[in-house]
Amino acid sequence: MDLYCVMGNPVEHSRSPRIHARFAELCGQQMDYGRRLIPLGAFAEGIAAFRREAAERGDSARGCNITVPFKFEAAALAEHTSARATLAQAVNTLRFEADGSIHADNTDGIGLVNDIVRNAGVPLAGKALLLIGAGGAAAGVLGPLLDAGASRIVVANRTVDKAIAVVQRHAALALGHGATLEAWALDEVPGAFDVVVNATASSLVGDAVPVSANVLRPGALAVDMMYGPAAAGFMAWAEAHGAVPRDGLGMLVEQAAESFEIWRGERPPSAQVLAELRASLAAGH
Ligand code: ATR
Repeated sequence: MDLYCVMGNPVEHSRSPRIHARFAELCGQQMDYGRRLIPLGAFAEGIAAFRREAAERGDSARGCNITVPFKFEAAALAEHTSARATLAQAVNTLRFEADGSIHADNTDGIGLVNDIVRNAGVPLAGKALLLIGAGGAAAGVLGPLLDAGASRIVVANRTVDKAIAVVQRHAALALGHGATLEAWALDEVPGAFDVVVNATASSLVGDAVPVSANVLRPGALAVDMMYGPAAAGFMAWAEAHGAVPRDGLGMLVEQAAESFEIWRGERPPSAQVLAELRASLAAGH
C-alpha cells in the first residue's frame, strides 16, 4: 500500500485525511492517508520514522503534507525544492522519490488561486488585490497570486517591516509580470480592491478586522484563509460592507488537490469534494 500522511503539532483536527480518502475513492487510487503528531523539535526523526515503519510493514511511504509548525524546516530535508516553495520559504508537500530523495513543494498559494478563480469564479487577471498579513500564511500565497495575473497587489501588515521584506523578496516576480507590488501599514492602505485576502491571525485571537472597510470595492471578494469560527468575524465584516465573503475551506480542498496530483499524477474532482465537505460541516459532522 502507498502511504501518505499529514504531519504537524497539533494535527488531530486536520481534515486532510478525510479529503484525501475521498479523492482516492473518487479516482480509484489505492492509497492510505493518515495523520502523525510529531513532537516539537523532532521533525526529521518524524519523517524517518514514517518511512521506516512503512517499510517494516511492507508498505511504501510516498509522501506527506506538512502543517504548523514544521512548514519552515521541511525544505532543509529535501534534495529538490520547487521554485514556488523556495519563494514562499515554506513547504507543505513532500514527495518521496523512488531513488530515496525528497521533493518539496508548496501548494497553498495555487490552492488559494484555484479556489478564487475556479470555485468562486473570480478571475484574478488585471485585478487589484489586498493581502492582509505578512507571516507564513501570506508569504505562502503571494507568488501564485502574482502568477495569476493580478495587476496590483498591496501587502499590509501590523508590523510594516515584515510586509516590506515579503514584498522585496517578490519584487523580481512582480516586475516580470508587470504588476505593481507595494507594502503598507494596516491603517494607511491606499485605495480600494477587487479582492481582499485575510492572512492574519487576528480573528483567531478575537480582534477586529485590522483594516478600514474603505479597502473593499462594492462587490469585492473578501477571502479569509481560515474557516469555521476563526473566519466568522472577517466574513461578517465583509458582508456588512457590501463584499462577497468566502472562507478558506475551498483553499484547503484545492491545496490538497494539488498535492494529490503531485503524488498520484491525477487531478481529483475537488469542486465535488468541497461541496460534500461544506454539506457535512453544515450538518454538524
Ligand atoms: P501564519 O503562519 O499564520 O501567517 P504568523 O507567521 O505568526 O502566522 O503571522 C501571523 C500574521 O497575523 C502576521 O501578519 C501578524 O502581524 P505581525 O507580523 O504584525 O505580528 C498578523 N496578526 C496577528 N495578530 C494580529 C492582530 N491582532 N492584528 C493584526 N494582525 C495580526
